[in-house]
Amino acid sequence: APSDPGLVERARAAKAKLGERVFVLGHHYQRDEVIEFADVTGDSFKLARDAAARPEAEYIVFCGVHFMAESADILTSERQQVILPDLAAGCSMADMATAEQVAECWDVLAEAGVADITVPVSYMNSSADIKAFTGRHGGTICTSSNARRALEWAFEQGQKVLFLPDQHLGRNTAVREMGFSLDDCVVYNPHKPGGGVTAEELRAAKMILWRGHCSVHGRFSLDSVEEVRARIPGVNVLVHPECKHEVVGAADYVGSTEYIIKALDAAPAGSAWALGTELNLVRRLAKAHPDKQVVFLDRTVCFCSTMNRIDLPHLVWALESLADGKVVNRIQVDAETEHFAKLALERMLALP
Ligand code: 13P
Ligand code: SF4
Repeated sequence: APSDPGLVERARAAKAKLGERVFVLGHHYQRDEVIEFADVTGDSFKLARDAAARPEAEYIVFCGVHFMAESADILTSERQQVILPDLAAGCSMADMATAEQVAECWDVLAEAGVADITVPVSYMNSSADIKAFTGRHGGTICTSSNARRALEWAFEQGQKVLFLPDQHLGRNTAVREMGFSLDDCVVYNPHKPGGGVTAEELRAAKMILWRGHCSVHGRFSLDSVEEVRARIPGVNVLVHPECKHEVVGAADYVGSTEYIIKALDAAPAGSAWALGTELNLVRRLAKAHPDKQVVFLDRTVCFCSTMNRIDLPHLVWALESLADGKVVNRIQVDAETEHFAKLALERMLALP
């Protein structure tokens, strides 16, 4: 539905009043009505890098989810304040790994005698606490666009990787891109005693995968790929690496949101594409490429509900509050967590 013109006007006015004092970042999965007001858009890697691009801005309004706003706070100066327009914009995947569960897992690894030779690699989609754990134990953060480089780096530092919280990204990267076998991977289930794995399995594994997944990408299935191939002959199936291993295996192309956008830009007119990623992005790409057929891989999957929490009313409220001198919904990571989380994030930003 088109945005309420009154709200559009109010957002414009508040943004104009704030001028250079505000910097609005928008993840590709955000609603169009919100993306319209973003100074910069990107995938999670680009936004982590760009967060510090405007050191003169007092306020960074992050249109994305909680872990992204935390990372922006960690990577920007003390003086800059990060605002998340709706505090309920979390991420179910990030919530699948709590600090207590990960500490317990590390104890299980220590009991199996493998903690010393294991390097944690945490997906950006994790809380600041998990990033701090990663930094404390000599590990790095990765995103879907640099997971392979992060894993290569980690295997130079140690013999095993604890990859969290997205088992699919970990498995897909190790098996599809790095020559590991499925038998080199073991899944650690935080809801089972001892993670549901034996010490022998932990000793034999190269990749210890946390049992987490994305509630959007994890829903695409092999059936959806087969169905779209039958429906649209010659279709190119392009999916995000948070999809299940069998879905990624059946796809033609795999990549992060930035990769998906570039692939569509480079695609010839008349080509057909089925995209296995978030619906806001798919719809935007379909609109941007009227000369190509762009469809959603599975019509039963829907928006990321937490990304969608940031809507125009919330954005207007945040901008107007700031314009009135009132800081709302500030995301602030405590100093100790920030110190160690930053170590891990900086290791990622320094990857070749
Ligand atoms: P990217 O932005 O790295 O493609 O990740 C997708 C995602 O699920 C963000 O929440
Ligand atoms: Fe989390 Fe998936 Fe939503 Fe990204 S798309 S915020 S990983 S639930």
